[in-house]
Amino acid sequence: MFLGLDLGTSGVKALLVDDAQRTMAVGHGTLTVQRPRPGWSEQNPDSWIDAVQAAIAEVRKAAPRAFAALRSIGVSGQMHGATLLDDRDRPLRPAILWNDGRSAEECRILEERADFRGIGGNIVMAGFTAPKLEWVRRNEPENFKRTRRVLLPKDYVGLWLTGRHVSDMSDAAGTLWLDVSKRDWSESLLEATGLNRSHMPDLVEGSEQAGILRTDLASEWGVGPVVVAGGAGDNAATACGLGITAPGEAFVSLGTSGVLFTVADRFATNTRDAVHSFCHAVPETWHQMGVILSAADSLNWLSEITGQSPAALIALVDAELSAPSPITFLPYLSGERTPHNNPDATGSFLGLKRDQGLKEMTQAVLEGVAFALDDCRRAIEKGGVEFNTAWVAGGGSQSETWLRIVATVTGLTLKVPQTGTQGAALGAARLGMAAADFENPFLCPTTGMVVEPEPDLIEPYRTRQRYFREAATSVTQQTP
Ligand code: XUL
Repeated sequence: MFLGLDLGTSGVKALLVDDAQRTMAVGHGTLTVQRPRPGWSEQNPDSWIDAVQAAIAEVRKAAPRAFAALRSIGVSGQMHGATLLDDRDRPLRPAILWNDGRSAEECRILEERADFRGIGGNIVMAGFTAPKLEWVRRNEPENFKRTRRVLLPKDYVGLWLTGRHVSDMSDAAGTLWLDVSKRDWSESLLEATGLNRSHMPDLVEGSEQAGILRTDLASEWGVGPVVVAGGAGDNAATACGLGITAPGEAFVSLGTSGVLFTVADRFATNTRDAVHSFCHAVPETWHQMGVILSAADSLNWLSEITGQSPAALIALVDAELSAPSPITFLPYLSGERTPHNNPDATGSFLGLKRDQGLKEMTQAVLEGVAFALDDCRRAIEKGGVEFNTAWVAGGGSQSETWLRIVATVTGLTLKVPQTGTQGAALGAARLGMAAADFENPFLCPTTGMVVEPEPDLIEPYRTRQRYFREAATSVTQQTP
């Protein structure tokens, strides 16, 4: 039996699978995000452990016999979060998360100090880990001085599981301290942030062993020696869950954030359009992705302020999709990464009239996210990577209407896995299988529904998209 743990932003998922990758049990634990100031986003690292324990308890309860035969664990997680630990491995402050925008100024400072783009492969963006540490250095010097180790969120869970400080290449690349082509920490990028190698965890590939489950946890859970894999950042793990480990395949994720992910057999960058270039979770493989910060989160926001569930909102649009909404939505509620790289960008509804309502606004939200994902596609393609089909992932991909809009706007043929997707948790379980010497667990799912671009809507959406782009350019270039 193999356990995949996915540490998300709103919760933890635990997935137990057998040798044939059949689901034996699923467990969940919930998490909340603290936003003590506008633009900030934090979590208490110990709440991750509580949520992991809750999720594992559910799995143990649902399948006690299967769990007792556990052979390995893989962990995936929300990327980039800065977890600062003291010399006793205790958190010094709440972790600063991937969607925290406080460090815009620090991004500018770091860009001038070292070759983050060349070595780290990426623009220094506020979501990444390095500028967060620079922010702590400038604003909380006491905490910075006491920082003995910096871990990523899933690696804090790994520390709890194994007692070791270890990260994998895919997640480590998102710190901006990794030399992404060499797959090793970069002394010069660390030095630019006042850190050195001793502050970093050891590195392994995601599919390699990071450690062995602590004996006290093993005896509490009634399991034998359990291998813990390097694991992966949640996007690389989702790719592993969909069997996307070689060039040519892609996926679109409509999660809290939106992601367009492609694989490369070499290190390649397009920093001008804020494309993310990271290592993949399997050896000698890299990946590129465009990331938008508010995908399903845009719909969640509309749901929160209107008191209607996301499903009820989508149902308003479901009945007909014959033309773009008369309203245009810019989904920059938490700033934007690809292609604008502006943590201060803001969202907007444009073109509102007295006779329009929630239906048109909801459709505009679904379309605005699709337009933003198309911006990601263009940014990735400028780097020479071409693809016409993509698997889908993330909660928003359960809406066929949303997928029809995304397919039509991006021109991509979207493939929905037949049995649904277990996402990053399955990818994590598979990395655990690989670390336990299981041969090639990264299989592609059977294709269920295929969603093609709708010919009648391509032109109307193109026209609307030009308007979206002009509006987006003007909004993302100014800071209110
Ligand atoms: C990727 C990113 C997000 C988080 C979400 O760069 O910031 O996709 O990993 O969990």
